[in-house]
Amino acid sequence: MAWDFLVAKTDLRQTQIQPATLPPLGEGEVRLAVDSFALTANNITYAVFGEAMRYWDFFPAAEGFGRVPVWGFATVEASNHPDIAVGQRFYGYYPMSSHLTVQPRKTRGGFADAAPHRQHLAAVYNQYTAVTEDDGLEALRALLQPLYITAFLIDDLLDEQAMFGARSIILSSASSKTAIGLAFLLKRRGGVKVVGLTSSGNVAFVESLGFYDQVVTYADLPTAPIETPAVFVDFAGDAGVLGAVHRRFRDDLAYSCLVGGTHWEAERGAGDLPGPKPAFFFAPDRRKKRGEDWSPAEFEARYGAAWSAFVADAARWLKVETAKGQDAMTATYLAVLEGRAGPETGCIVRP
Ligand SMILES: NC(=O)c1ccc[n+]([C@@H]2O[C@H](COP(=O)([O-])OP(=O)(O)OC[C@H]3O[C@@H](n4cnc5c(N)ncnc54)[C@H](OP(=O)(O)O)[C@@H]3O)[C@@H](O)[C@H]2O)c1
Repeated sequence: MAWDFLVAKTDLRQTQIQPATLPPLGEGEVRLAVDSFALTANNITYAVFGEAMRYWDFFPAAEGFGRVPVWGFATVEASNHPDIAVGQRFYGYYPMSSHLTVQPRKTRGGFADAAPHRQHLAAVYNQYTAVTEDDGLEALRALLQPLYITAFLIDDLLDEQAMFGARSIILSSASSKTAIGLAFLLKRRGGVKVVGLTSSGNVAFVESLGFYDQVVTYADLPTAPIETPAVFVDFAGDAGVLGAVHRRFRDDLAYSCLVGGTHWEAERGAGDLPGPKPAFFFAPDRRKKRGEDWSPAEFEARYGAAWSAFVADAARWLKVETAKGQDAMTATYLAVLEGRAGPETGCIVRP
């Protein structure tokens, strides 16, 4: 039976699984059955900013409810498209639903969904990549790929700007997969101290990664010895942490970059802070720019090389746990929402 996992837009803890109807396919349409997807804080951020950044617009739902976007794999169940066959598999952006109907426009490696309601949204979310073989990396790809590409793009921005002259790059929510990706790249690049800010319960995990030169708890931030000038890359989105960084470093803060919102229940916003005005980083914009600056093929080559190095090491620190069935899916969603999943766990759902 077809279903949608719905969350109340005004209370992300309120969930329900609703039966869905599958309308007959229109001309050129394809229906995919969702096989598996990852759940991380990134998906919660999609929901938190569902209205403001239009993440709810990808997969419409009944009034007051949203379908949280996830990254994963699906198999073509029915096709009215001449070039797409039943049984083909695609990696991409799906709803937490049993099915997704798309209007494919063929691309080099797969298709783009040309459904009219998605055309005003960032193009990277509308791309679906054909899966041609099982390389044994599907879980890691669903878990890490959308996050690591962000890390790659931030590392590229910092490199382009000569690290803004900083001696330390400070990452909040240092235990998050996106921050880990950035720490990996910065460590590899060398020349700056990579400082991880995290909660006390995650210090041991963050230290064990080997990518951070220094690990500091949020509580110790005001006094820990950190070399300046510093750059702050904020994955936590917590006004308290952001304020503490700016008040401590003031003009010794060379750049302040807002990326994420893992601490989604904390107060948000920058307010009037000493030091540089925080700049919002949106990966799809930088991705588009680099696709144009370089060629698409060069982007793929550079990113592909960086990805291979990261994913080859990921099994050392990331334990994939697969939740099977709808009850396990709900439990996993709530664990990720409430920050109970643990940074060493990669949550995959097979609904
Ligand atoms: N701007 C962009 O283009 C872009 C692109 C990709 C990702 N992002 C953002 O980067 C952030 C990281 O995403 P991710 O998927 O990599 O995260 P993740 O791996 O799921 O992060 C887990 C960590 O986040 C913190 N956390 C998670 N839930 C929490 C909660 N309920 N309360 C308090 N802390 C919580 C904890 O870290 P600590 O204890 O270390 O704080 C936890 O260990 C997300 O906000 C995501 O949206 C932004």
